[in-house]
Amino acid sequence: MDGNGRWAQQRGLPRIEGHRRGVASVRRITEHCVEAGIEQLTLYCLSSENWRRPPTELSFLMHLLEQYMIEERALLLRQGISVSMIGSRAGIPAATLEAIDQTHALCAGNQRMHLCLAINYGARAEITGAVRRLVREAQEGTILADDIDEQMVAARLDTAGQPDPDLLIRTAGEMRVSNFLLWQISYAELWVTDTLWPDFAAADLDAAIRSYSSRVRRFGGLSPS
Ligand code: IPE
Ligand code: MG
Repeated sequence: MDGNGRWAQQRGLPRIEGHRRGVASVRRITEHCVEAGIEQLTLYCLSSENWRRPPTELSFLMHLLEQYMIEERALLLRQGISVSMIGSRAGIPAATLEAIDQTHALCAGNQRMHLCLAINYGARAEITGAVRRLVREAQEGTILADDIDEQMVAARLDTAGQPDPDLLIRTAGEMRVSNFLLWQISYAELWVTDTLWPDFAAADLDAAIRSYSSRVRRFGGLSPS
């Protein structure tokens, strides 16, 4: 979800106004995904590299996240959406974590769509954590190093049990992956749009899905035809 700052700057508004409008996009797109029958939506809310931002912007983002987690509960329940978080909890304010945890618990039984929020997330840190776990298990003797396969690595990532993304959408035009789900997006279809996240509407999502649907996914093989 990129481009909140630029959206605000273009209007002579403070960056936080862009983030505020970004939340409205989250609501809109989440609802549209449910209607479109999408089973899982992962949103890159904050990367581990975003800590380089000014403390005032960071604390605003944390507050916004906490507020979203609380205010969204009724809608999430009504729409049948379950919620989880990937990323490091270290450094996230206790009140924000509490709001996330409570919403997670409250919505745990929902089965229509899963909403995964990447907060203080970085793929390299995630993979490093998985390596650490595997080494520890090998040292303890519960697994053998030679038995380690791709499934065992995937099962030790933050996203364990979740499907790999089919489609990766990046808003605001940057042609890079920015440390997002590096393992999981190996075969994801990419869609980059210049539209800034606060302007990203249901029609934009439909355009991305249409493009995705027209592509032939070969996963390294040959076309069926
Ligand atoms: C994305 O918008 C939202 C977060 C990273 C929280 P940005 O804040 O990165 O917006 P730009 O890139 O400055 O336009
Ligand atoms: Mg940005």
